[in-house]
Amino acid sequence: MDLFEHQARELFEEHGISVPRAEVTDSPEEVRAIARRLGGRVVVKAQVRTGGRGRAGGVRIAADPAAAELTARQILGMDIKGHPVRTVMVAEPVEIESEFYVSYVLDRGAGRFLAIASAEGGADIEEVAATRPEAVARVPVDPAQGVTSAKAAEIADAAGLLARTVDVLVRLWEVLVREDALLVEVNPLVRTEQGRILALDGKVTLDDNAAFRQTRWGETELAPDDPLEAAAAAKGLTYVKLDGEVGVIGNGAGLVMSTLDVVAGCGARPANFLDIGGGASAHVMADGLSVVLADPDVKSVLVNVFGGITACDAVAEGIVRALDSVRPTKHLVVRLDGNNAARGRAVLDARAHPLVQQATTMDGAARRAAELAHTA
Ligand SMILES: Nc1ncnc2c1ncn2[C@@H]1O[C@H](COP(=O)(O)OP(=O)(O)OP(=O)(O)O)[C@@H](O)[C@H]1O
Ligand SMILES: [Mg+2]
Repeated sequence: MDLFEHQARELFEEHGISVPRAEVTDSPEEVRAIARRLGGRVVVKAQVRTGGRGRAGGVRIAADPAAAELTARQILGMDIKGHPVRTVMVAEPVEIESEFYVSYVLDRGAGRFLAIASAEGGADIEEVAATRPEAVARVPVDPAQGVTSAKAAEIADAAGLLARTVDVLVRLWEVLVREDALLVEVNPLVRTEQGRILALDGKVTLDDNAAFRQTRWGETELAPDDPLEAAAAAKGLTYVKLDGEVGVIGNGAGLVMSTLDVVAGCGARPANFLDIGGGASAHVMADGLSVVLADPDVKSVLVNVFGGITACDAVAEGIVRALDSVRPTKHLVVRLDGNNAARGRAVLDARAHPLVQQATTMDGAARRAAELAHTA
């Protein structure tokens, strides 16, 4: 799960990384009051969990409290790459002498972390990385050793950073370890005209697998922006909203991924990714169906289940019970294969629901779901 900039900033501050003074609000009037408290001139920053905010007009300087309120009115409600701006952070402006980039990211392939750092940080870092890769240092970090002062000095040296950033590099590693993060990034880390080293922007991605031992952020603070994704997350489902018209439910991430491909191959577009997992109980199937059917973009639903440990007849019983509790209004195409497929199909045949059709192959099921979506 990605954190907002203001949440990342809070973690940095707790771990002793200096940040500019700032406050968060969803109210333009409050922005005016915050600007007054911070001395008048401020930077108003959209809080969205995506990059490139500055370029999209989501980071703006305001000369005084009245201008800050006006700027906040323009930024609040903006849409930045599909992310609605619901809050802004109002920060004290700093005079920047130089901007650096520093981050730690999990390198799954290598089974290590990677420190990425550059003396040419700022909003153009992607371009620097693409056009002059030699300006971006990449130093492997052994997770068992971590980032000691000596390691931090090696990273700073490789990237041509000031020796004074070593302390920040060590503390940033502590943020990653203590908070169970997969990524921590500061861009830009700046040296101000007054000689201070400050983190002006932060990005932190937490490891969802560690959520059980990280109690700091509540469910509402981490809830996805998309209301359907939020509803699915609250039910513990692995759901991603996409922009098509065929709802997809399957068991197993690999099967669902290939189902999306097959739907696209039939000239339709999947409306979502939803993996109900190996268990696929009636209860989980009902939860999944309710989320997918609540999506107004969905015109038909494709349920693609391969019976393994959970046999198809158990899954079919789940679908039947889900049909009674969810009461679908759109056509469902169900394809059951694998363990006890014939018995599973018989269960659905016996229920004879008017909106449910069965298909024996994945291709056939996807074709039928695509047709139904187009004629709905
Ligand atoms: N408090 C501040 N004072 C002065 N300048 C700032 C401040 N905060 C940000 N800036 C300037 O604005 C630029 C963009 O800000 P920021 O990095 O927060 O957003 P962004 O880079 O557009 O977002 P993203 O990192 O998602 O691309 C920074 O590189 C910095 O030059
Ligand atoms: Mg930035």
